[in-house]
Amino acid sequence: MTKALVLYHSQEFGNTAEMAQAIADGLREGGCAVDLFNTNDGRFDVTRFPQYDCVAFGSPDYYSYIAGGLKMFMDDHYIYDVHKKLKGLRDKPFVLFYSHGGGGNVKDIMPRIFGRIGTLIGEPVGSMGSPDKNVLERCKALGRELTKAVF
Ligand SMILES: Cc1cc2nc3c(=O)[nH]c(=O)nc-3n(C[C@H](O)[C@H](O)[C@H](O)COP(=O)(O)O)c2cc1C
Repeated sequence: MTKALVLYHSQEFGNTAEMAQAIADGLREGGCAVDLFNTNDGRFDVTRFPQYDCVAFGSPDYYSYIAGGLKMFMDDHYIYDVHKKLKGLRDKPFVLFYSHGGGGNVKDIMPRIFGRIGTLIGEPVGSMGSPDKNVLERCKALGRELTKAVF
């Protein structure tokens, strides 16, 4: 079965976690088996990454940057890709989502940071504070859009 990973960080209010659930709903509607992982719960084991066909990355804006847990994932990803030569870490379609408190520029740098993973699909979805119904619908639609890149 086609497998999707929703890798995100959520810690302060659960805003990014709500968006992650909506993305996961869209991915399931599109026919994917979905794993969710919040980097606030620990370090994601990058050696598990090759099994996924597509990925959704979500972060709160932390000082116009991604959260540390996701940065750690990308650091691990680089080392396993470039030095340890683990196969299956790249060439994956991915989507992006983020939440913020009313400012910050994380949305501008996310495509570059996660660009090593593969091809960005669709438009990143953002939420100021708690995601409303419209934002959650857009997250769900983005999850569905991602499935179209893998089927
Ligand atoms: C350490 C820290 C730094 C933050 N920096 C920014 C920032 O630069 N700009 C902004 O708009 N919001 C900033 N915020 C607010 C969070 O991005 C916002 O509350 C987000 O929705 C929290 O997501 P969560 O509930 O999933 O953890 C910051 C929050 C924290 C805890």
